[in-house]
Amino acid sequence: MRIETETSQAMGAGVHDFDLHTATEEDFQEIKKTVYTRKIVALKGQNLSSPEFIELGRRLGEIDVYYEPMYHHPEYREIFVSSNVPKDGKQVGVPKTGKFWHADYQFMPRPFGLTLIYPQVIPAQNRGTYFIDMGQAYQKLPEELKKAIAGTRAEQSPRRYFKIRPSDVYRPVSELLEEIEQKTPAVKHPTTIVHPVTGETILYISEGFTCSLQDEQGTVLEEQLVPRLLEASGQLDMTFEHENIHLQTYEEGDLLIWDNRSLIHRALHTTTPEPAVSHRVTVHDEFPFYEGIGAA
Ligand SMILES: [Fe+2]
Repeated sequence: MRIETETSQAMGAGVHDFDLHTATEEDFQEIKKTVYTRKIVALKGQNLSSPEFIELGRRLGEIDVYYEPMYHHPEYREIFVSSNVPKDGKQVGVPKTGKFWHADYQFMPRPFGLTLIYPQVIPAQNRGTYFIDMGQAYQKLPEELKKAIAGTRAEQSPRRYFKIRPSDVYRPVSELLEEIEQKTPAVKHPTTIVHPVTGETILYISEGFTCSLQDEQGTVLEEQLVPRLLEASGQLDMTFEHENIHLQTYEEGDLLIWDNRSLIHRALHTTTPEPAVSHRVTVHDEFPFYEGIGAA
């Protein structure tokens, strides 16, 4: 196994000659270390079956199965499927997922540290995912914004981007909204979290899930704070030219692993849809998502 760091880029590394069947515990530790420091790792030249992809996830930690079954692979619930390619005339998984800035499971009480994406059908053009390193974004914030958010908490909810399921047709919207609030009530995480491995301070907010900021007593802070943070971090730039935005492309055989604490991401979907299928496995590593998570 050989790890190559792309020195011209702020993030990313390629792992060559990785073989799931012969990889040692040290190899997995090395890969994780690279994910934490370089944020995204591409395992090159992979040709894994679905059970093997799941096995890879297990070697990295504890797999978190997605809470909404609509996204599950029909045979392997550990795999989340994003697909616009019907199989035998039937939709598999969900099309056009993640077309908004977010960190995976940011709206859950215990998000996971690692996201693994294994593209199955790669679009001919417009391939890739946008990323922002929110540790870097925090560093660049003006001092007065850093001060304004110190010690605050952010309320996170999936309600704005919850996807209607086929079984929701003919249901009243109010009932659906109630179900969302009941199943996934808004959670509060610190507005900045400290990475348990690198010690970086990360601005843990996103356009998709962050609703408001609150002080220690739970009083909602000035409404403009969230949009100001989104703007400063590059999430409101619809041209995707902001200096914080990194477009990660991939080729056949790439399997991406990224640091879901540091990075927010946004899928690149175009108006002229091309066939695209990717499989995802998500994993809790051996570290707390952030120190003190779950404490009252
Ligand atoms: Fe995502």
